[in-house]
Amino acid sequence: MIIETHAHYDDEKFDADRAGLLSALRESKIEKLINVGASFKGCEDSVKLAHEYDFIYAAVGVHPSDIEDLEAAPEERMNWLLDTAKNDPKVVAVGEIGLDYYWDREEEVQKKQREWFKKQLEIAREADLPVIIHSRDAAQDTMEIMKEAKENGIRGVLHCYSYSPDQAREYVKMGYYIGVGGVVTFKNGKKLQQTVAETPLEHILLETDSPYLSPEPNRGKRNDSRNLHYIAEKIAKIKGITKEEVCERTKDNARVLFTKL
Ligand code: NI
Repeated sequence: MIIETHAHYDDEKFDADRAGLLSALRESKIEKLINVGASFKGCEDSVKLAHEYDFIYAAVGVHPSDIEDLEAAPEERMNWLLDTAKNDPKVVAVGEIGLDYYWDREEEVQKKQREWFKKQLEIAREADLPVIIHSRDAAQDTMEIMKEAKENGIRGVLHCYSYSPDQAREYVKMGYYIGVGGVVTFKNGKKLQQTVAETPLEHILLETDSPYLSPEPNRGKRNDSRNLHYIAEKIAKIKGITKEEVCERTKDNARVLFTKL
């Protein structure tokens, strides 16, 4: 069995066949999955899905590219996030939160991203939940903020990890987990393959980021959690162990980090 630690089944790309697909996942050995909020509406929809399906859990947090959602009604929405993170039994993490300088190049916007990132880390601390971190083209600022977060007792995963093996080692030393998805199967995924080779299996989590980033041989198509089997196979190959071992051990890791699973 496999635990999927990052998917977005609230996405409109699943509107036509969501129910059928979600039941197909169970038959494909997906034991549990975390549906991760990105927009504010995505957070609400993630919680709804988690209440509808036993095997689905939710993460609530606003993505750096969606911080306008928080600025639209800061107090009300931050209160909702804190209240939901604290009190909803199916909410297992705060995320995805972080920094994305790829899409937002202006210093003014990046500064706002950092502010909302830190405020949401504070929600995780108050709710005593782990965090799911999104970080793109913001390696140094993310590292600095996560160092400070660790001092405040924050635990979490660097989702869809895309930085160097060296930085991964630093994150692992601080107790953070490395989220590995479809990119590990890509021909141009050498850096992530190197990271997987050097990162202890105890610190790796499986994820797809569905509907994005489908692994080979389905690259370019809509992604779903059944593709985790290809990701696990690739990690097994890199580490010279069996796919079953990868699935079982990463499942244990997910349970250690997301204690409410
Ligand atoms: Ni995501």
